[in-house]
Amino acid sequence: MTDLSTLETDLSGQIAAARDVAALEAVRVAALGKTGQVSLLLKSLGGMSPDERREQGPLINGLRDRLTTAITERRAALDAEALEAQLAAERVDLTLPAPPRRKGSVHPTMQVMDEMVAIFAEMGFAVAEGPDIEDDFHNFTGLNFPPRHPAREMHDTFFFAPGPDGERKLLRTHTSPIQVRVMQRTNEKPVGPWAAGQEPPIRIIGPGRTYRTDSDRTHTPMFHQMEGLVIDRNIHMGHLKWTLDAFVRRFFETDAVVTRFRPHHFPFTEPSAEMDVQCDRSGGSIKIGEGSDWLEILGGGMVHPNILRICGLDPDEWQGFAFGMGVDRLGMLKYGMPDLRDVFGADTRWLSHYGFSAFAAPNLASGLS
Ligand code: PHE
Repeated sequence: MTDLSTLETDLSGQIAAARDVAALEAVRVAALGKTGQVSLLLKSLGGMSPDERREQGPLINGLRDRLTTAITERRAALDAEALEAQLAAERVDLTLPAPPRRKGSVHPTMQVMDEMVAIFAEMGFAVAEGPDIEDDFHNFTGLNFPPRHPAREMHDTFFFAPGPDGERKLLRTHTSPIQVRVMQRTNEKPVGPWAAGQEPPIRIIGPGRTYRTDSDRTHTPMFHQMEGLVIDRNIHMGHLKWTLDAFVRRFFETDAVVTRFRPHHFPFTEPSAEMDVQCDRSGGSIKIGEGSDWLEILGGGMVHPNILRICGLDPDEWQGFAFGMGVDRLGMLKYGMPDLRDVFGADTRWLSHYGFSAFAAPNLASGLS
């Protein structure tokens, strides 16, 4: 008896004194584990006489039950204490200022494209698009490139490996393939979102990415162009010059912009010209309407009769003009970005400096920039 009550006092004391789950578990094993003190007492019941067992059985079992309960309760108390401690340690201070959220911005090139679309849309042009991955026909042959023209060679054009039919696809080197897609009259259904053939009169612009193996301050392997094409009766070079001059004045939002046309050669226009904008590039920035530098921003000309014939149009009935503008270069000039490579550098500091708010969608009513 005395033994049992001493044992109970001792074990109860240890349970109460256990400071953590591991200590409590050690007490439990020492008392109720396989060879624990109480377990051994329970086992000893088997060797007792029936009378002894009748007396000792309830005492030992009672001890075991009370200890089990005490351990369970202590365990719950320790768990609650641990949770309290964790909650206190991990408390969130709701009065701290929230970290600022970073706002994205519209890339200047996309903004410039939207500005260009707004201007040409007002002049009555519709948007037509073509794929970045083109075939030789739309990029070259359909545009009157002679079979051995240097632009077809590897130093200018990114070619893909030939397919099973031997055909070499390529990354379009300009947006002019869109001209062919729009003028061609075929019964083929257009694939994807690309422009289908149209009956003249035609008045389209074709914005998109273009690719050439080039890299310096004003050239990057991927850049953007906007094609323009007008096909109608009695169209001449004067229409082209007026359209482009009206465009640049609108785009730069000033009459102070000075342009010049230089004779040039393209296989798909005759006569052909390039247009430059006068600018100042001294001092690490770029300004239009002053200085003595010229930046070429587009090529254009009268659509070559061969192109009309290739596309099934009679050159005696239809004429037209076409142009291809460098979108990124127009953006450099308008927003003073001196190096084209930065435009695609994906530096977030550059983007937050030159980027536009997503809410500043350009239109002619509320203003372009
Ligand atoms: N495709 C020409 C280029 O990339 C530009 C151009 C377009 C010239 C349309 C004439 C007509 O340089």
